[in-house]
Amino acid sequence: MSEKIIEVVDLGKEVKDAIGTLTILSAVSFSVKTGETVAIVGASGSGKSTLLGLIAGLDRGTHGTVRLGGEDLSSLDEDGRARLRAAKVGFVFQSFQLLPHLSALENVMLPMELQGAGSARERSQDMLAEVGLAKRFHHYPKTLSGGEQQRVALARAFVMRPPLLLADEPTGSLDAATGLGIMDLMFKLNSEYTSTLVMVTHDTDIAKRCARRLTLSAGQLIADESLAPLAHEYDATR
Ligand SMILES: Nc1ncnc2c1ncn2[C@@H]1O[C@H](COP(=O)(O)OP(=O)(O)OP(=O)(O)O)[C@@H](O)[C@H]1O
Ligand SMILES: [Mg+2]
Repeated sequence: MSEKIIEVVDLGKEVKDAIGTLTILSAVSFSVKTGETVAIVGASGSGKSTLLGLIAGLDRGTHGTVRLGGEDLSSLDEDGRARLRAAKVGFVFQSFQLLPHLSALENVMLPMELQGAGSARERSQDMLAEVGLAKRFHHYPKTLSGGEQQRVALARAFVMRPPLLLADEPTGSLDAATGLGIMDLMFKLNSEYTSTLVMVTHDTDIAKRCARRLTLSAGQLIADESLAPLAHEYDATR
């Protein structure tokens, strides 16, 4: 359990605009071991989503290194990063990011089919049933409630059993009760299928369910705290 799934070393992100250079992230270093649950917290604009995008290889830093499962993202081209991401990372976003012209089932099947995974339909149906949507396979996103859309997104994220789940404000668009249900489901799926969870959240109660909390302020990592207990241990005692 001591393998490092994420290693971030001296990571920086700057953008240039007409006025000058804007520093979004500066000298951020930390690593995450397989099995950890990590909350990234900080004020709006502190760089949380930017950091998550860099960890996922969706964007590139201007300084420093990100290694995912030991592979340096900067040594890979866009296709290589996409392959690594497909193999290792599941995503959940605040805005669900379902494809509107695909049914719930097709949304879950798509990443599997892109990877040529076998039994995509059966596995996607099983996964949707597991998140409580056995009767919604053929619904399009606009005919699903927000909580249901997020459950489709969870099914899509977990169906390939990625070793790492990245979540950016996964309950940010949901009412408190629905958000709590999504969070319970996410921790349950994470302990069942995925061993490592890194989640951006504004919600201090949700952050407390993670074993570790990283705090960003104006693009800098200002705190890295361990919180007991681990989420899956926490779940087991409920
Ligand atoms: N491509 C970009 N070009 C210019 N500025 C950017 C870009 N991406 C992000 N920023 C700026 O970087 C800062 C950090 O953005 P980021 O989205 O990472 O914040 P955040 O911590 O996720 O905030 P929130 O909690 O509101 O989602 C913001 O001030 C944003 O305006
Ligand atoms: Mg954000």
